[in-house]
Amino acid sequence: MDPALDAVMKIEGSTSAEVIEHLFELAQEIRDGCIVEVGSCRGRSTAALARGSQRAHKIPVYAVEPHENFRGIYNGVFGEKDRIAFFENMLKLGVLDVVRLVNLDSRYITRAWPIPVGLLWIDGDHRYQVVRSDVLSWLPHLRPDAKLVFDDANDPRAGPYHVVEELVRSGQWERREEIAETKTLARISNLAITTDLYTS
Ligand SMILES: C[S@@+](CC[C@H](N)C(=O)[O-])C[C@H]1O[C@@H](n2cnc3c(N)ncnc32)[C@H](O)[C@@H]1O
Repeated sequence: MDPALDAVMKIEGSTSAEVIEHLFELAQEIRDGCIVEVGSCRGRSTAALARGSQRAHKIPVYAVEPHENFRGIYNGVFGEKDRIAFFENMLKLGVLDVVRLVNLDSRYITRAWPIPVGLLWIDGDHRYQVVRSDVLSWLPHLRPDAKLVFDDANDPRAGPYHVVEELVRSGQWERREEIAETKTLARISNLAITTDLYTS
């Protein structure tokens, strides 16, 4: 593992080392626009994206995370204390030059989002309807060459699995990589871009 990630893996969180490395590498590929993370908690994956951005093109990493009381489908409990830990961790790792916290629910902020997104990492509420609406809200803001990464996408009991299947069935997105519990998708090239998830 790259030494830049040693401190990242010390941040409390369940995102695996393989996924942290994957995000670190993907973030280094982004040259324009921004990187968006949905679901940051205490910032383990945020820090991986940020260290990748710092290593390469210094693209801003928007961490979209309300830090409100929330229980995930795997029974994880999240809330206000994570906000304090998030800032402490980002300060400790020296990544606040690229990390910007958007302390709101992902679905409420996209209407007037101003910056094209080159990498969207989805690790928020894993219920199917929420993952679907997260994707639908961000789709109009994705660059044509954007990558879309879903956590916990191998578990048919969780929303990400089904949203990935729907995106691939739409004929507009293809699977690029499957690393540990994640799936990374990219747009099929030479297709007219539509923001309609389910129209091929
Ligand atoms: C599994 S944790 C994220 C873990 C984090 N990526 C890491 O590496 O440690 C899921 C997070 O999603 C957040 N969340 C839940 N609903 C959300 C939403 N609609 N928009 C953004 N974040 C949300 C929760 O507050 C929780 O902190």
